Amino acid sequence: MDQVQEGRRRVAWAADNMPVLAGIRRRWLDERPLAGLRVAACLHVTTETATLALTLRDGGAGVALAASNPLSTQDDVVAALREEGIATFARRGVDTRGYYEDIEAALATGPHFTLDDGADLVNMLHTRRNDLLPGVRAGTEETTTGVIRLRAMAAAGELVYPIVAVNDARTKHMFDNRYGTGQSTIDGILRATNRLLAGSVLVVAGYGWCGRGVAMRGAGMGARVIVTEVDPIRALEAAMDGFEVLPMAEAAARGDFFVTATGNRHVIDREHFGNMKDGAVLANAGHFNVEINLEALAGLAESRGEVREGVEEYRLPGRRLLVLAGGRLVNLAAAEGHPAQVMDLSFANQALVLEWLAREQPRLEAVVHPVPAAIDARVARLKLASMGLAVDRLTPDQEEYLRSWEQGTG
Ligand code: ADE
Repeated sequence: MDQVQEGRRRVAWAADNMPVLAGIRRRWLDERPLAGLRVAACLHVTTETATLALTLRDGGAGVALAASNPLSTQDDVVAALREEGIATFARRGVDTRGYYEDIEAALATGPHFTLDDGADLVNMLHTRRNDLLPGVRAGTEETTTGVIRLRAMAAAGELVYPIVAVNDARTKHMFDNRYGTGQSTIDGILRATNRLLAGSVLVVAGYGWCGRGVAMRGAGMGARVIVTEVDPIRALEAAMDGFEVLPMAEAAARGDFFVTATGNRHVIDREHFGNMKDGAVLANAGHFNVEINLEALAGLAESRGEVREGVEEYRLPGRRLLVLAGGRLVNLAAAEGHPAQVMDLSFANQALVLEWLAREQPRLEAVVHPVPAAIDARVARLKLASMGLAVDRLTPDQEEYLRSWEQGTG
C-alpha cells in the first residue's frame, strides 16, 4: 500500500472515532461558516489533526498546516492531506531550521486565523514575519505551554491579536492532558523499550493534568509511582492519591523509568544523572525538549549510541542511561499521540471556537481569552450523547432552592 492510501486508511480510522467532530463536519458542509477564510495551523501532524483539517476545509476554509514538533509528524498523513487539498508543510525528523521553514511556509499563505500548539507559529508571526500580522484576525492555542507563552506576551504588551486558550477549556485539559497524555505516554515508553512496567519504579516529575494522568496509568500497570513537585498543594494531592512524594535529588536513585511533565527546563539535571540506576529510562511528556538536560548528560557520557529505534544509550562511568525520542514528546515521537476519542474533545473545541471567532473576533481585544463556557458545556453534552450517556436536569423546585438562602437546617 502506498503512503497516500495508508494515510487515508489511518485518517478514516481516527475520523470514525471522533463522533463530535464528525457531527460538526456534517453541519458545516451545509452551513460553510468558514467560507472565504484562510487558516494556518501549527499542530502535530497526526490522523486526528488531519480529521480537524478536513473539517475546517469542509467548513469552507483554506487550510495550511505545519508541524508543531519535528518528531511527531506522520508522513503518510502528510501525503494523504496533500491529496485532499490541504497545504501541508511537514516532514518527520526535520532539523530545527527545516521545522521553522515549514511554519513560515504555512504563514506565507496569509492566514486570517491561526491554530497553534506551543506558540511557535504565533512567535514567528510576532517576530520574523510580523509583516503578515495586519491580515491576521484571531487565533487559538492548544496546549498549556503555549498558553503560558501567550500570557507572557500579553503581559509584556506584545500580543497583537486575540487568541483563545483552548487548553483551558475543561473539556480539553481534564481529558486530553490527563487521559490522553496518561495513556499515550505509557504507550510511547512501551513501544520504544518493550520493558515491563509492573514492579518497576516510575518517577513522574510534575503533578499537573498530564503528570496526574501518567502517574495514574503507570500505577494501573503495576508501577510503584514517585511524584516530584514544586507546588505544595499538588504534592499533597499526589500524596493523597496514594503516591510517594520526593525531591528529584532522592527520586533519582530510585527510578527505573522517569517521565517529565512540568513544562519547565532541566527538571532532570546534571546532579541527578550520576545517582541513577544502570539502565534507567528517561522520557519527556512536556511540550518542549528542555526538561531533561541532555547537554549536561552528553557532557558526562563517555560515549553514546542508538540501541533500539528511538532509544539513545548514554554511557556514563558505572551506568547506562536510556533517553527516549531525543527528549521530545515521547507519546508523539515513539507512539501515535493521544487516541482519537480524546482528541475529539480537544478538536471539537478548536472547531467550535473557530466558528465563534469568525463571528465574534471584531469585538475581541488582543489578549488571551477563555473558551466560552457555552462551547465547553456543548462539547461535553455532544460527547456524552455520542457515548450513549445522558445527564439529569434540575427540577424547577431545585432551581428555586439553589437561588434561595432562607432555608437552612430542617
Ligand atoms: N497532541 C497529543 N496527541 C495528539 C494527537 N493525536 N494529534 C494531535 N495533537 C496531539
